[in-house]
Amino acid sequence: MIEIFKSDVEKGLESCPRTLPSKYFYDKKGDAFFVEIMNLPEYYLTRCELNIFQNKTQQLVEALGVKPDSYFELIELGAGDGTKTKELLRLLDEQNHSFDYFPIDISSNALNLLEKDLNAALPRVSVQTKQGDYFKVLASLKDNKKPKIILFLGSNIGNMTDDLAADFIYNLGSNLQIGDKLLLGVDLIKSEEIVLPAYNDSKGITAKFNLNLLDRINNELGGNFNLKQFKHQPEYNKNEGIAKSFIMSTADQKVEIKAIDKTYNFTKGEKIHTEISRKYNDDLIKKIISKTDFVLENKILDSKAYFADYILTRN
Ligand code: AVI
Repeated sequence: MIEIFKSDVEKGLESCPRTLPSKYFYDKKGDAFFVEIMNLPEYYLTRCELNIFQNKTQQLVEALGVKPDSYFELIELGAGDGTKTKELLRLLDEQNHSFDYFPIDISSNALNLLEKDLNAALPRVSVQTKQGDYFKVLASLKDNKKPKIILFLGSNIGNMTDDLAADFIYNLGSNLQIGDKLLLGVDLIKSEEIVLPAYNDSKGITAKFNLNLLDRINNELGGNFNLKQFKHQPEYNKNEGIAKSFIMSTADQKVEIKAIDKTYNFTKGEKIHTEISRKYNDDLIKKIISKTDFVLENKILDSKAYFADYILTRN
C-alpha cells in the first residue's frame, strides 16, 4: 500500500502539470472532513440526492422494475452512513419486497455502524455487509446469477475522467447479467454561482480536505510541506462542466519527501491538480454509457433539478 502511495506521489509531482490523486484524500481525517462537507450549506449534492430518495421513492422503485414477488440483490458501492438508501430500504420493506441489501465499503467501521443502525431501524431488512474492493465483492456475487441492482450514488463517478468512468461502468456490467440495473447518482451541469461555492465553502472545510493530502505526505512519507505556504484553489466553468481542485504554492519553495528521496522546487503560483468533480447532462451520460453494455432507462431529478439519478439496464 505505502509503495503504491510513494510511486503515485512521485509520478504525480514529476508530471507536468503536477498532480496528486484524489483517492488519497480519504484517510481518517479526510473521511471526517468529507462528512463535514456533506453537511455544509454550500455542498448541495448530498441534500439534493436525499431529496430524490425522500420524495421520489416510489418512482425509484418503479424505475428499478422490482416486484414484491421476485427476489433481487441490492448492492451499494461505497455505502457510507446509508442515509439516502435507508429511504429506499424503508419503502421496499413496507411493500414486502424480497431482497438482501449488500453495502460494500472499504471501511469496516462504517459498515458496522451502518449495520447496527439498519438493524435497529428496519429489523426485517437483511443487511449483508461486505468489506473490501468493489470489484472483488461483485466477482464473489456474480456466480449466484441472482437479479442485481447496483447503487453508485453521490456523484462518486464524477471523480473519474470520462474514459475511466466508462471503463468502470463497463466493468460493473461484466459482473452482471442481462436485465440487471445500475442506479447512478450524478451532479448536473449548472452555473458557476452554484457549483463553485460547493468546492470553496466559507468555513474553509474543503480547503482543509484538499490540503490534508499534503499533511498525509508529511506524516506517511516524511515530507516537509509547509501547509501555510500552500492554498486550496478550486475552478469551474460551465462550458467544460468540471469542478477542479488545485493546491497552489504561495511562495517559491523547496519540499523534501524523505521516503522517495526527492526534493521538489515549487514556484510561487504553481499548482498541483488534486481532483476533478465532473458534472453531467444527458449527452455526456449517453456518450459514456455508449462504451458500456448498459442502456439508459430512466432519470429521476430532485426538486431543484440540480442532481439526477440515472437508471441504466445491462443489456
Ligand atoms: C466524493 N465526491 C463525489 C466529492 C465531490 O463532490 O467530488 C468529493 C469532494 N471534493 C470536494 N468536495 C467534495
